[in-house]
Amino acid sequence: MVEKIVEINHLQKKFGKVQALEDITFDVRKGEVFGFIGPNGAGKSTTIRVLLGILRASGGSATIFGQDVWHDAVAIHGRLAYVPGDVYLWPNLTGGEVIDLLLKLNHQKHSARTDALIKQFEFDPTKKSRTYSKGNRQKVALIAALSTEADLYIFDEPTSGLDPLNEEIFQQNVLQLKQQRKSILLSSHILSEVERMCDRIGIIRQGKIIETGSLDEMRHLTRTVITVQTNEPVSELDQIDGVHNIKEDSKQTNKVSFSVDSEKIDAAMELLAAKGIVSLQSTPPTLEDLFLRYYNNDSQGVKSDAQ
Ligand SMILES: Nc1ncnc2c1ncn2[C@@H]1O[C@H](COP(=O)(O)OP(=O)(O)OP(=O)(O)O)[C@@H](O)[C@H]1O
Ligand SMILES: [Mg+2]
Repeated sequence: MVEKIVEINHLQKKFGKVQALEDITFDVRKGEVFGFIGPNGAGKSTTIRVLLGILRASGGSATIFGQDVWHDAVAIHGRLAYVPGDVYLWPNLTGGEVIDLLLKLNHQKHSARTDALIKQFEFDPTKKSRTYSKGNRQKVALIAALSTEADLYIFDEPTSGLDPLNEEIFQQNVLQLKQQRKSILLSSHILSEVERMCDRIGIIRQGKIIETGSLDEMRHLTRTVITVQTNEPVSELDQIDGVHNIKEDSKQTNKVSFSVDSEKIDAAMELLAAKGIVSLQSTPPTLEDLFLRYYNNDSQGVKSDAQ
């Protein structure tokens, strides 16, 4: 049987008249990375704050390790590590002191793993926190969380301020946690990160979960944009089912851009290769593309809800 670490059922949260969460239902299973994606203001951080027991739900239920997130918050917190999107630090402590303090608050000790993470992230722990950039503030929280022994790790847009090298280090560490059968809830705007890391994802919009499933199950929703120049003209692209929005470059010969469903990339590439590829640029689908596809594919429900 699948062990559910987080279980959320029809969760609601109202702030006065604002219904921030209307209907949130998903679960995070043992040993998986669950990606939580959605546009600004959709309710990701609010959901996470309810999970952390910082906010009290207005309806529905949420449990972690089978315990109620509000009533059993203290017990839950002993087995949980969290990194917020906006990291605020004590300005007069050094980064190293803050890391140790965060660990202590979580009943953890500075370990060899902490030192290894400081090294991996090339983080200078000797500077006062107020001098750190956004990325470095994020590193403080990430190093503390990643060196915490926990069963569930919750990251709320943890890589928004990190450069690609550090993002990669974060991702490697999360994949290691996963190998150790830890569970991870990761909210992110970066679809490539979600694609690489997550076993299953939940898409939230306007306080509602509009889709959950594995990426394979959602693959039909994604499209890649390709811009390519070839030796010979490519006229047969429109014959490939799954190729859309073909646009010819008016300035350069044999240059064309189009979008293609993920499962048809192979067929498109075969055709292009036969014409001799001079240059090729591929842009992965953005979150917006995914949403737009979702709406186009969906018959009624979501569209009418979104109005
Ligand atoms: N304390 C609060 N009081 C009133 N409204 C709030 C409060 N916190 C959040 N909201 C509202 O709840 C909704 C969801 O916000 P939330 O921060 O959860 O979004 P998000 O998905 O995390 O967005 P982002 O991607 O920008 O971080 C928004 O409409 C927001 O304005
Ligand atoms: Mg947020």
